[in-house]
Amino acid sequence: MPRGIFITLEGIDGTGKSTQLRLLVNHLRECGCRVVATREPGGTRVGEQVRGILLASRTGKLAPLAELALMYAARAQHLEEVVRPALARGEIVVSDRFNDASFAYQGYGRKLGARTVRAFDRVVCGATQPDLTVVLDLSPRVSLGRAQGREVRRNSVRGRFEAEGLRFHERVRAGYLAIARHEPRRVKVVRADRPVDEVQAEIRSLVDDLLARHRKRDSGLGVRGS
Ligand code: TYD
Repeated sequence: MPRGIFITLEGIDGTGKSTQLRLLVNHLRECGCRVVATREPGGTRVGEQVRGILLASRTGKLAPLAELALMYAARAQHLEEVVRPALARGEIVVSDRFNDASFAYQGYGRKLGARTVRAFDRVVCGATQPDLTVVLDLSPRVSLGRAQGREVRRNSVRGRFEAEGLRFHERVRAGYLAIARHEPRRVKVVRADRPVDEVQAEIRSLVDDLLARHRKRDSGLGVRGS
């Protein structure tokens, strides 16, 4: 059965993830790859509605387990409607956040622990796991400042996660770094305290290596006309 390639971008809020994702997707399309760009929470109609509940500050306090379950509800829909069909077509899926965000934010940030998150993950994601995860790493002192600047520019209200303080984001960052230590083959940490182009060059080289490995294994996978 043909299987595409699943790439996820992760990191705490304000690391420049969305910009890097856009640049990466452009690069892959220019190389002739068929790419589905998506995001979590969201990526589907139902998922975007769940996202509204999860991120809006007017939602107020959610029990950590309710928050986790909602993340995985959105993810189940996303997997069924978007991720698995695209992978089955042999395409490249690039997602702005996926299951590592639940380990980092709910497991570490909300202190639910990795075992609880893993229980949801086994049922919902099962064997559908990212082939490559890039964690954009930045000190929360810097990233929260960036995220706040963005809100002021957009005149928007701080969301539930952005309103969390420094300590919360320090735990989330530590969570991401712990995941990377446990799974060094899949998860690559890229320092995000550098110019956009430099960060992008490192991401591209990681992705290009992955594509080369896949091409070797299964010639022409995800590449038009080959
Ligand atoms: P978003 O606006 O997409 O953040 P950013 O643009 O900075 O990536 O908001 C997503 C928020 O949801 C973000 O604060 C992280 C949080 N989140 C979790 O807590 N758990 C999850 O499993 C996912 C996917 C996201």
